[in-house]
Amino acid sequence: MSSYIGKHAELYDLFYSSKDYQKEALFIHQCIQKAGIQSAEILELACGTGNHALQLEKLGYSLLSTDYSADMLKVAQSKNTGKNIRFQWMDITDFNLGSKKYKVIVCLFDSIGYVQSNENIIKVFSSVAAHLEEGGIFIFEFWNGGAFMRNYEASRVRKWNRGEEEIVRLSETEIDYVHQLGKVNYTISTFDKGKEISVLQEQQINRFFFIQEMKNLLNSGGLTPLQFTNGYEEDFNIDFNSWHTVGVAKKTRK
Ligand SMILES: C[S@@+](CC[C@H](N)C(=O)[O-])C[C@H]1O[C@@H](n2cnc3c(N)ncnc32)[C@H](O)[C@@H]1O
Repeated sequence: MSSYIGKHAELYDLFYSSKDYQKEALFIHQCIQKAGIQSAEILELACGTGNHALQLEKLGYSLLSTDYSADMLKVAQSKNTGKNIRFQWMDITDFNLGSKKYKVIVCLFDSIGYVQSNENIIKVFSSVAAHLEEGGIFIFEFWNGGAFMRNYEASRVRKWNRGEEEIVRLSETEIDYVHQLGKVNYTISTFDKGKEISVLQEQQINRFFFIQEMKNLLNSGGLTPLQFTNGYEEDFNIDFNSWHTVGVAKKTRK
């Protein structure tokens, strides 16, 4: 299991407070419109604390948003004031929602990489294909291998303030080239008026992918790639500076 539990779930929104979820949701909305889909209930895989769901709800969508971290779901649920999002526990490597099908399925912020192995990724994609309506789309985001290998920082420190507290996060990253994994060891220290009051250590392991490889994985899972962009923009120039690649795929016709 990745480690979005306990204190990390509690601090997640602070760590990503500058991430533009509103802009990202708008890009997703544009992809949905471009596919000719009018209104849709969205199935969200690995929703975390629900930030995309909340923005997509504002754009008129209803969502079933799922994650396997009960602590992330708890934070998401605490922000859910409307009636159009249902948060539910689900492991993306093993999901079956019966005969229910969706016009749109999303898996964002590199979450697909946490399942790591080819076998697991194909399992996720096969379940996505099984739950996509004909003409429906899958929108997903992943770490781009070129950018990761060229630009990753072996050690990085970031700081945030929360009331009287200062949170300091040290990230130490190693690459496993053979399995295409970035192993990030976090040390998260909380200081109150300069005195350290807690330390949390955890490791997150995420996979990076290359575009041609991702096309093969999608095909193996019964999905056909439609486009890859440099993040949440209509920018098709993916290169070694494109950390986050957003892909759109549809179900392969039999
Ligand atoms: C980087 S966070 C992204 C959360 C959210 N999509 C966002 O954009 O803020 C990765 C999320 O993937 C979830 N996750 C990792 N592996 C999972 C799995 N096998 N099944 C369900 N969720 C998973 C984690 O619990 C975490 O919430």
